Amino acid sequence: MDYKNLKKNHSKLYKLLVVEKKRQKNVINLIPSENYVSQAVLEALGTEFTNKYAEGYSEMRYYFGNKNVDQLEDYAKLLVYKVFKIKPVDYGVNLQAYSGSTANLAVYHALLNPGDKVLSMSLEHGGHLTHGHKVSLTGKLFNFIHYGVNRNGFLDYDQILQIAQKEKPKMIVCGASAYSRIIDFKKFKEIADSVGAYLMADISHIAGLIAGGAHPSPFPYADIATTTTHKTLRGPRAALIISKKQKSKFQVSGSILHELIDKMIFPGMQGGPHMNTIFAIAVCLEEALKPNFKKYAKQVVKNAKALANELQKLGFKIISDGTDNHLMLIDVTPLGHTGKTAGEILEKNGIIVNKNMIPYDTRKPWDPLGIRIGTPTVTTQGMTEKDMEKIAKKIHSLLTND
Ligand SMILES: Cc1ncc(COP(=O)(O)O)c(C=O)c1O
Repeated sequence: MDYKNLKKNHSKLYKLLVVEKKRQKNVINLIPSENYVSQAVLEALGTEFTNKYAEGYSEMRYYFGNKNVDQLEDYAKLLVYKVFKIKPVDYGVNLQAYSGSTANLAVYHALLNPGDKVLSMSLEHGGHLTHGHKVSLTGKLFNFIHYGVNRNGFLDYDQILQIAQKEKPKMIVCGASAYSRIIDFKKFKEIADSVGAYLMADISHIAGLIAGGAHPSPFPYADIATTTTHKTLRGPRAALIISKKQKSKFQVSGSILHELIDKMIFPGMQGGPHMNTIFAIAVCLEEALKPNFKKYAKQVVKNAKALANELQKLGFKIISDGTDNHLMLIDVTPLGHTGKTAGEILEKNGIIVNKNMIPYDTRKPWDPLGIRIGTPTVTTQGMTEKDMEKIAKKIHSLLTND
């Protein structure tokens, strides 16, 4: 895109864009929740669909002039079914949540009552704020209790079962922001079924890997799946909610999960959907259906494994001793660093990571024991295992002054 109107009429903002573009190009971006979208996704975000109000859903809008919008939303939903290999008779899809956080809050609110008990992974062990952390509205409105990982950094399904049977939650949330191992959705479903709870899978981080066949799918196990579209799925900043077309367990009898969720998104929590973003989601889903995307997803995992392997050879402590997905957590204290000091040194030298609590961390989130790194962006840029070895060596030399 040439941005010629920005350049001509908004020079201050244009300059900011130029330096940000340059920054993104010049750094090694290892933040696992980020990605660099295609030009087509960028173009889609800037289309005239941004001008349209479309409160409601297909053929039930509060504004006129929405024939094209209806076609777009219907088509984007079809793409979701194709990408995740599920059927419209079994699942409903909502594309309107403004972000992953909104999507999660909408699901809890749609299917539970305030104060209901929910079991999820704690933020400190890899879960997300919206999995009921006390500072999040989710944690204020619902009674979240948490599971974590064992001392080796793995989920312990027997322990999760024990907690579930003792606490009898109405929903179990699986999925994480900082867990580097395969999530066993089938086991989670068995646990949820044993106590009559819903299973919600927050696949925000791994949606692209699932779409590309590089991580097992949450379907048919999860009753509800939420995901951001901007991480490994490599689309715009937004979210999807996929839910079973089954009767609700705890709400008005006869109501269907996906209908309750649709109603909670609009009019419950949001107004008009961002149709330009939904247009861009459709573009990213078309991209995810191309054979190249499968290759991409598999390469993301190969790269993460190569990076973890090389870092371990160099003496780094990787939580759970490796990775099965796109990310890893590293305890940087053996090198005399905290997450903050390590992140700062790396940033000064063009490597961007995020500081992160590690399981059983003894410090605070602002300056924890670890960093979290991942390979979605560098893989998008075409890097392979050889590049990962170089990056590991560079990280090692920067953090050890070697
Ligand atoms: C597992 C998980 N769920 C939800 C979210 C929230 O997404 P958003 O930042 O779009 O609100 C994130 C974001 O990092 C996440 O990692």
